[in-house]
Amino acid sequence: MSTASVDEMIADTDAADAAGFVDELDTPDLKQRFETDNEFLFLDEFLPAETTTQFQARIPELTEAIHRNFIPRHKKGGSVSRYALDELAPEIPALYRNPKFIAWLERLTGETLEVCPESDPHAYALYFYTEPGDHIGWHFDTSYYAGKRYTLLLGVIDESSSQLEFELFKNDDDRETVADARNLRPGAMCFFNGDEVWHRITPLGENERRISLTFEYVTDAHMGRWQRFVSNMKDSIAYFGFKQVFKRNKR
Ligand SMILES: [Fe+2]
Repeated sequence: MSTASVDEMIADTDAADAAGFVDELDTPDLKQRFETDNEFLFLDEFLPAETTTQFQARIPELTEAIHRNFIPRHKKGGSVSRYALDELAPEIPALYRNPKFIAWLERLTGETLEVCPESDPHAYALYFYTEPGDHIGWHFDTSYYAGKRYTLLLGVIDESSSQLEFELFKNDDDRETVADARNLRPGAMCFFNGDEVWHRITPLGENERRISLTFEYVTDAHMGRWQRFVSNMKDSIAYFGFKQVFKRNKR
């Protein structure tokens, strides 16, 4: 057996192991909850502690790659795009693309999910709330893709009073809106249909820190030219800066 194939076998085993924790979950029950709440699920305990610890260990280096922005009355905070994560935290894209992990998300949604194309800086990204008042106002994670867009939020560091506030059934005239709030502590997750769940992150207090990871999956990764332009403008202004977004797209 060649060395390459042994390496590949080890890599395959590692990949399977990284998502092995999903076998321990009561998926039928979680799927039921996801459906009942109009494609929304929050779990206080999801990622294994060793995975969260691995992600946390990358934070000091990633701090160099933070792009901060401020949109009056809507958003203040820092973001690290997928391009920086590819270089500085390979475990994160590895989990994002892990076939076993995606298969589990597909079981929850009952949809075939695709990873976002190379040109999408938001496919996976870290959000840094590190200065007093850092927050994001009420919004949907609107899909600019031809299909649905699902957001997965994972808690990495949370030494804060900031909360993820959300409203379910916002678009459903026949249902009373359900409003609630949660702290996204390390290891916690929130998975939802971006076009259905109205949400925000409340402002960070003094001497607080909150770092969360976002993964984006779609049911159809095609995007019209105009939608791509709007999406890129939004990502440039609100998240990663024009250089990250448009230079990468030109490639
Ligand atoms: Fe969002």
